Amino acid sequence: MKQFLSSSDVLYVNSLLKKAKRIQQDSYGNNMIGKNKTMVLLFFNPSLRTRLSTQKAAQNLGMHVITMNVSQAWGIEFEDGAVMNLDKAEHVKEAAAVISQYADLIGLRTFAGLQDREADYEEKILNQFAKYATVPIVNLESATVHPLQSFADVFTIETYKKKKRPKVVLTWAPHPRALPQAVANSFVEWMKKTDYELVITQPKGYELSTQFTTGCSITYDQQEAFHDADFIYAKNWSSYSDYGKILPTDVNWMITAEKMALTNDACFMHCLPVRRNVVVEDMVLDSPNSIVIQQAANREVIAQTVLSEILKNL
Ligand code: CP
Repeated sequence: MKQFLSSSDVLYVNSLLKKAKRIQQDSYGNNMIGKNKTMVLLFFNPSLRTRLSTQKAAQNLGMHVITMNVSQAWGIEFEDGAVMNLDKAEHVKEAAAVISQYADLIGLRTFAGLQDREADYEEKILNQFAKYATVPIVNLESATVHPLQSFADVFTIETYKKKKRPKVVLTWAPHPRALPQAVANSFVEWMKKTDYELVITQPKGYELSTQFTTGCSITYDQQEAFHDADFIYAKNWSSYSDYGKILPTDVNWMITAEKMALTNDACFMHCLPVRRNVVVEDMVLDSPNSIVIQQAANREVIAQTVLSEILKNL
């Protein structure tokens, strides 16, 4: 693997899932592959899981890790040819090239701005970094996708599934703030790499981009979707068509124990952080069927799997 920007950088999911299983059983078994290598983690946005799990994964492989909140550095300009006489003091051409002098790998988190759909869906910031960096980039959640999360989600479903082809439901859930579509887009993209039965359910107006959902089974009836489901994956996202907006939010879409009773004793999943009793009620999140903590634990396993694949080629 040369880089990890999106699911298209993973050609053989099944062989990497087997590798992830081995890493889960022996996380220090390959702790020299990253010796004398440095990973720089750049965060344009907040993080708990991605930051800690990626740092831990890199350290398990023997790497040094430097983490920087980009808000503490100079403002970075991403427009080619910009006249930089406003607030941005440094162009990504220099920033990415300079960081590459200190790093063997760069991890980058950069959320959608939710103002300009075209710029977000072009992945402008991620792609500009990838263009001007001279070392591999690892996507720690970008404007449209969160591949480390989704790969960990597939690994989690593989671990907990009780049948070869489980029914997996991605359900929109309420949230008071406008959130990006990245986790949902990415989850759909990675589900398509499996042979699971995927059903997406959301209120009207919250349809994801057809770039991701073409060919998917989609229903506006959440209860119908829940019938016989083996996994319920809850996530909020803002509107794609009325870009970045929250429509009159329907609180009835919260995940409740009553709805979970419609399922085939389904596992409950969420990428976290999650707002209790808004997205999902306590009774579900605190139930034995909730696997959100195991899901988060698997972020370390999958980050380590991805980093070790890239390190093999350095
Ligand atoms: N799920 C996830 O990416 O969590 P953080 O935003 O805390 O990194």
